[in-house]
Amino acid sequence: MNRNRKILVTGGTGYIGSHVCVQLLEAGYDVVIADNLVNSGRDVVERIARITGRMPAFYETDLLNLESVRHIFREHRIDGVIHFAGLKAVGESVAQPLRYYSNNLTGTLHLLTAMQEEGCRVMVFSSSATVYGETNPVPFDESMPTAATNPYGYTKVAQERILTDIAAAQPDMSVLLLRYFNPVGAHPSGLIGEDPNGIPNNLMPYVAKVATGELPCIHVFGDDYDTPDGTGVRDYIHVCDLARGHIRALEYAFTHTGTDVFNLGTGHGSSVLELIRAFSEACGRELPYVIAPRRPGDIASCWADIHKAQDVLGFTAQATLADMCRDSWHFICCRKEEKI
Ligand code: NAD
Ligand code: UD1
Repeated sequence: MNRNRKILVTGGTGYIGSHVCVQLLEAGYDVVIADNLVNSGRDVVERIARITGRMPAFYETDLLNLESVRHIFREHRIDGVIHFAGLKAVGESVAQPLRYYSNNLTGTLHLLTAMQEEGCRVMVFSSSATVYGETNPVPFDESMPTAATNPYGYTKVAQERILTDIAAAQPDMSVLLLRYFNPVGAHPSGLIGEDPNGIPNNLMPYVAKVATGELPCIHVFGDDYDTPDGTGVRDYIHVCDLARGHIRALEYAFTHTGTDVFNLGTGHGSSVLELIRAFSEACGRELPYVIAPRRPGDIASCWADIHKAQDVLGFTAQATLADMCRDSWHFICCRKEEKI
């Protein structure tokens, strides 16, 4: 059945999008990628093909250019869209709010315009646990009120709203809002993963760069939170599990209408120190760290209530923190070898 379905994946050469493209191709879907490569490389298309033995169609397209988005829909009969394309760095969004609002919101509006014109009714959207804001108690469940503390978070809250309103006005449309917790890890092949340029903002890529010796020491942002060891607790989910959640969500979207929202997490929190210990095991040496001040905007704990994704989508994450660290480390080692 999937063989006849063609999925447009915006942001498909990015970290999460590339893993989803792999699983879509493996599940028999046809894949068209649209990405402007602002935060990824063209080589990822080839890597996806090496893993799957199937070449996705690729358009170097900026969603801010409505005509080029229309062009893709004219060239392909798109059955559904998975929309990853967006800017995602919280600090950068505070410094460049106009760029973030413009890119993330206008890009989504253009995509929806082209979908409406061509009668494409299925949309799976990358939201974030950041929409749970600062005041909800853990575990976060989908019925809780949403909020944001920075422009990036507001773009997610706003996009959820826009998509919900559009689906309400178009009763044959299906919109799934997927709220990711903390995606980490990499494809076990070592061919795709996350390797940000410069100094990473997020914990796992930072730890990985300390493990390779590119950075000297991990800074643990606060050890006086109300958590078991005082450091921040997050729900880390393996990117391949996350990708599997998208396949389930897409299948669900093709058989239901209206808007629905799902958390994609493991339902289990790990502290910063636990993650450092797990990564030290994976790379075979003790990683140095120092305790630093809290990072403004951080909450103590964040993990998902996973019952809805389990009950409705039949999705449960499988990988352990050790698996996530092993695959991240393997990817980084493969990357280093390639660069030599
Ligand atoms: P990523 O930066 O690796 O991938 C996003 C891709 O979108 C990149 O390849 C980039 O080049 C592309 N892009 C950005 N703006 C574009 C535009 N205007 N037109 C075309 N392409 C554009 O990020 P990711 O980690 O794979 O995240 C994917 C999505 O998931 C994002 O929407 C992000 O906000 C969301 N998300 C990510 C995380 C996370 O921790 N990685 C957590 C929650 C939500
Ligand atoms: C951050 C963003 C969030 C975004 C998510 C995925 C902030 C405030 N939040 O989430 O909006 O959706 O990334 O991109 O930026 N930590 C350290 N040292 C480091 C880095 C992080 O101790 O060098 C700690 C943090 O304080 C936190 C945990 O590690 O407790 C995880 O941090 P991170 O990987 O940045 O993810 P989030 O803060 O959950």
